[in-house]
Amino acid sequence: MFVIKTKNYRELSKRACDIIAREILKKPDLTLGLATGNTPLGLYKELIKEYKKNKIDFSKVKSFNLDEYYPIKKKDKKSFYYYMFKNFFNKIKIKKSNINMLNGETKSVKKECLNYEKKIKKNPIDVQILGVGVNGHIGFNEPGSDFNSKTRLIELTKETIKRKSRFGKKVPAKALTMGIKTIMKAKKIILLASGKPKAKAIQHLIKTKSDKDWPVTALKKHKNLIVIINI
Ligand code: F6R
Repeated sequence: MFVIKTKNYRELSKRACDIIAREILKKPDLTLGLATGNTPLGLYKELIKEYKKNKIDFSKVKSFNLDEYYPIKKKDKKSFYYYMFKNFFNKIKIKKSNINMLNGETKSVKKECLNYEKKIKKNPIDVQILGVGVNGHIGFNEPGSDFNSKTRLIELTKETIKRKSRFGKKVPAKALTMGIKTIMKAKKIILLASGKPKAKAIQHLIKTKSDKDWPVTALKKHKNLIVIINI
């Protein structure tokens, strides 16, 4: 594990952007694992800036998002589908057929999850971006999740629902998420954490043993983990 402590959120976002830019230069058809939430917003802004300066070419890049609420319509402003197009995909040139997201509208959850696993197996994730929940979740693998878990439907904790339901708009109580095992298969993982509320989760990652109650600690066993923090 390599930990980078940054002075502020801007630096955190830039450091992450630099790593991704370098990886895409090395491998233009990189498979990128993407996250939503507040933490990667600065990173997306930096990536868009670099794209506009012709420093990054996303035309061959493939992407897989970590998770999506269930059930949820793509056009719902709370969906991660909406978030990704608004904050990133609509602002860069990326092939729509290269964008992979779990479908919150599916009628067949099992099939959706199995297909996602199959697609990831065919296109192994080179670089996975992760945020972390205050309770230590990664993706939507809530505390207690099996470290061998694959993509599946999960019930969100009351705390997560409350934190994600901002401006009075309640998010669904369930979500589809890549499993911890799926995440661990990524060749490189960049974990971003910003702000005091994330201190406990990061402390668990750095100082304690792997513990199912803190899913983030599964990452301790990853061979190529970069943690970028501003706490
Ligand atoms: C989002 C995701 C979550 C978030 C986490 C932190 O796709 O998988 O694990 O990374 O909930 O969210 P923020 O960044 O909003 O604090």
